[in-house]
Amino acid sequence: MNTNPQPCPELAVVETIAKEAGEILLQWSGKLAAEQIQSKSAQRDLVTAADLASEAFLGKALEKHFPGQALLAEEGVVDGNLDLHAETLWCVDPLDGTVNFVHQLPMFAVSIARLRHGEPELAVVHLPRLGETFSARRQGGAYLNGQALQVSAAKSTEDALLATGFPYRRHLLADNNLENFCRLFLHQRGIRRMGSAAIDLAYVAAGRLDGFWELHLSPWDVAAGGLLVQEAGGVVDTMRSGGDWLFGRNLLAGSTALVADLRSRLLAGQGEDFPNLGDRLQSS
Ligand code: IPD
Ligand code: CA
Ligand code: CA
Repeated sequence: MNTNPQPCPELAVVETIAKEAGEILLQWSGKLAAEQIQSKSAQRDLVTAADLASEAFLGKALEKHFPGQALLAEEGVVDGNLDLHAETLWCVDPLDGTVNFVHQLPMFAVSIARLRHGEPELAVVHLPRLGETFSARRQGGAYLNGQALQVSAAKSTEDALLATGFPYRRHLLADNNLENFCRLFLHQRGIRRMGSAAIDLAYVAAGRLDGFWELHLSPWDVAAGGLLVQEAGGVVDTMRSGGDWLFGRNLLAGSTALVADLRSRLLAGQGEDFPNLGDRLQSS
C-alpha cells in the first residue's frame, strides 16, 4: 500500500484543525452537566455544549486559514442565502456521533469537507478518542494516518459486513429504514449501527466495513466520508442510481459490485412506488 500521499498543504491545515476540535471534544468528554445536553428536533436528537464549542472553534479556525470561504455547519443558523454550489463551501459536523459521545462511547468524530461547486474536494474525518484521522483530496487518494485506503472487494451482501442507521425522527417517518433493515436481515454477515455516519463511511473507505446505507442524512454527515469512499476506489450513490447523494438525504456506499447488490436487495419488488426513500411522514 502507498504510504506516501502527495503533500497537500491545505489538507494538512484541515487535519490540524480537525485534531484541535477533537481535543476540545475530549476536554468535554464525561464532563457534561445535564443542562448542557439539549434535545433538538426529536427527544433523541441531542446537541451539547461540546458540539457548540467544537463548532465555534471550527468556524473561527476555518475563517482564519481560509478567509471568506462560506460555512455550512450542523449547529449553525443555516443562512437561507447560502449558495450550496458556490466555488467553495465548508461543510462541517463538529461532532458526529453525539449520542455516543454523551454515553462515553468512543465512536464519535469531527467531520470537515470542502465542496467546490457542490462537490467534495477535501475531506477529514477525525476520531479523537481512537486517534484515527482519515483524509482525502479529490483525485489524491484516501488515507488513514498516512496509510492509503482501499474499499473491500466484497461483491455480495451475503458475504458483507454492513452498517446503517436510523433517523432521530423515526416515530414520524414512514420510511424510517426499519423495513430496509428487515429486507437485509437474512442476507448479510452482519449489520452494525455505530451511530456516526461519518465513521461508517470512513470505515467503508478503509475496507473495515463492506457497505453502508442510510436515509435522512444531512450533507454534513456524509460530505467528508463520501469523498473518502470515492478516493478509496468505492462508489457513493443514492438508492435510485445516479441521484444526489450529498444533498439527497439517502445514500449507499461500497465497492461498485456491492452497491449494485445492496441496491437490488433494498429495491427488490418495490417498483416505482418504492416507499422507503425520502421524507414520507406516517399516515397515522
Ligand atoms: C447522526 C449520526 C448517526 C445518524 C444520524 C445523524 P449526529 O449525526 O451520523 O449515525 O444515524 O442520522 O444525524 O447527530 O451524531 O451529528
Ligand atoms: Ca451528524
Ligand atoms: Ca453533529
